[in-house]
Amino acid sequence: MAGLAVNVDHVATIREVRKSSYPDPVAAALIAEIAGADGIVVHLREDRRHIQDRDVRILRNVVQTKLILEMAATVEMVGIALDIQPDLVTLVPEKRGELTTEGGLDMIIHKNNITETVDTLQNSGIPVSIFIDPEPEQIKLAHRANASMIEIHTGTFCEAATPAKKDAAFDKIVNAIKFAHKLKLGINVGHGICYNTIKDFHGLHEIDEFSIGHSIVSRAVLTGMEAAVKEMRDLIRQL
Ligand code: PXP
Repeated sequence: MAGLAVNVDHVATIREVRKSSYPDPVAAALIAEIAGADGIVVHLREDRRHIQDRDVRILRNVVQTKLILEMAATVEMVGIALDIQPDLVTLVPEKRGELTTEGGLDMIIHKNNITETVDTLQNSGIPVSIFIDPEPEQIKLAHRANASMIEIHTGTFCEAATPAKKDAAFDKIVNAIKFAHKLKLGINVGHGICYNTIKDFHGLHEIDEFSIGHSIVSRAVLTGMEAAVKEMRDLIRQL
């Protein structure tokens, strides 16, 4: 059975909107683990828009499953990863203005920097996954860079506007999974997967892990709403 790695970035997004001390992504991570998550994912961005250095450091100490650090292949981030020693690093592209990661790393453009970063991290004992689009050339280059794993970008499929576009995008994902499996690469998938699109992955046993964040945090806001309102109502009743 494939694993589920829960991304808690958007718990930190809610905190950072107010620059408050809550909700704490560390607390969310621990609850996710109690609920059965196989790993916790955080993306430490250059602009620190959601996850902060403090979060990653505390998570390193308290996560019992595995801590997956998403990061850009920069000198600053490599230094932090070497210091913190996450269980897996996922290399992702990062643009300042983007709302979220917009696509996979382009291995054709960045292969030298990525290969060097993979070497540095893996030589220190941290396995590396590269987040790429479901394209054979990207998979070949990730394999050549000696990465332990790839994470296949599922965003184009999950956000497709028509059934035809959705089918075409999913075919690419399936072909990419089969090809990466032949190359003996570990295979994670992620970006945009929700409670509907997850069902399409039925039978794809080559997948090691699903990396899911936004839909889970969004669902938690709604499923937790009733209890949260009742708790505040009770406090007002007791005034
Ligand atoms: N995988 C990668 C590489 C990502 O950058 C993200 C978004 O942070 C995810 C998975 C999770 O995507 P989502 O929040 O849409 O589930």
